[in-house]
Amino acid sequence: MTEQRIISNEPEDNQEESIEKSLRPQFLSQYIGQDKVKNELSVYIQAARQREEALDHVLLYGPPGLGKTTLAMVIANEMQVQIRTTSGPAIEKSGDLVALLNELQPGDILFIDEIHRLPKMVEEMLYSAMEDFFVDIVVGQGPTAHPVHFPLPPFTLIGATTRAGLLSAPLRDRFGIVEHMAYYNQSDLQEIVIRSADIFNTKIEESGAHELARRSRGTPRIANRLLKRVRDFAEVSDQSEINQMTADHALNLLAVDNRGLDETDRKLLETMIDFYQGGPVGLSTLAANIGEETETIAEMVEPYLMQIGFIKRTPRGRVATMEAYEHLNRPYNFDENK
Ligand SMILES: Nc1ncnc2c1ncn2[C@@H]1O[C@H](COP(=O)(O)OP(=O)(O)OP(=O)(O)O)[C@@H](O)[C@H]1O
Ligand SMILES: [Mg+2]
Repeated sequence: MTEQRIISNEPEDNQEESIEKSLRPQFLSQYIGQDKVKNELSVYIQAARQREEALDHVLLYGPPGLGKTTLAMVIANEMQVQIRTTSGPAIEKSGDLVALLNELQPGDILFIDEIHRLPKMVEEMLYSAMEDFFVDIVVGQGPTAHPVHFPLPPFTLIGATTRAGLLSAPLRDRFGIVEHMAYYNQSDLQEIVIRSADIFNTKIEESGAHELARRSRGTPRIANRLLKRVRDFAEVSDQSEINQMTADHALNLLAVDNRGLDETDRKLLETMIDFYQGGPVGLSTLAANIGEETETIAEMVEPYLMQIGFIKRTPRGRVATMEAYEHLNRPYNFDENK
């Protein structure tokens, strides 16, 4: 279900992944937006390079599609080191981790995506690797089994997660640099759309880029995806340039509304308002009602609705705000005292 969402913030398939690669900025200077993150990182990178040391471990967290993987690659380029990429669920046993660590040269980066999904044993092994650059492994079996102290080169671990709350405290504490990725503002997204259109060799008017930026849920991955679809519409209708009208027309056909919400978002809000009088209602109840996984709602639907102030979190569950009622053209009859 989520895979089919036009504004899903996950890559759709291999083809989209290779397009993403071509759209990825290589250096901090090309990386648009996230100024706070960029400014801080550039200081730490410069300092580490001057000391000729490995960069401290970095944790990047925030909603999907905001450029965490891209930023990890950028850091490797800026540090002029190699980067190895893996993900939490891909490292099944301690041996897998040792194999990965064993291949690192001094200063190299190990990038672990979805780091909140590391198996516990692997996570515990990471503690000493991160802190003191060694792992203790057990060699042999039965009576001949003995521990071996295995030193590692100084390296940088970059962890990425959409759910920082699911990270254990001991792991979290071992990251010297912790950066939160925020949703992009419209002018940054507009710049990203213009840059991507240029890479695609597509002409786009500022008004067209503006419309796309406004409806991309603060997310570069969605902006790029919508741009591709809008470009298709423009091409089949023989328009040489994407303008505001083309963008608006195509996005309406794609059922992306003027705030960037799609059917899943609207269904969620409608359920809250029409069936639960605006809430409070629990996330899992809502998820069951609209036939989605609670995880999906928590990770990809709710954060943006909260960011634009359509949903509020209360101790008793989620509540739809007046803005949400207005957006869906429902009379606001919410009883504050219920
Ligand atoms: N700051 C940026 N400037 C330009 N393009 C960007 C920027 N950030 C992200 N993008 C684009 O958005 C796409 C998605 O970014 P990326 O894959 O890095 O997101 P992510 O945060 O790692 O997502 P996930 O949580 O799903 O792994 C990239 O291919 C890139 O084209
Ligand atoms: Mg990623």
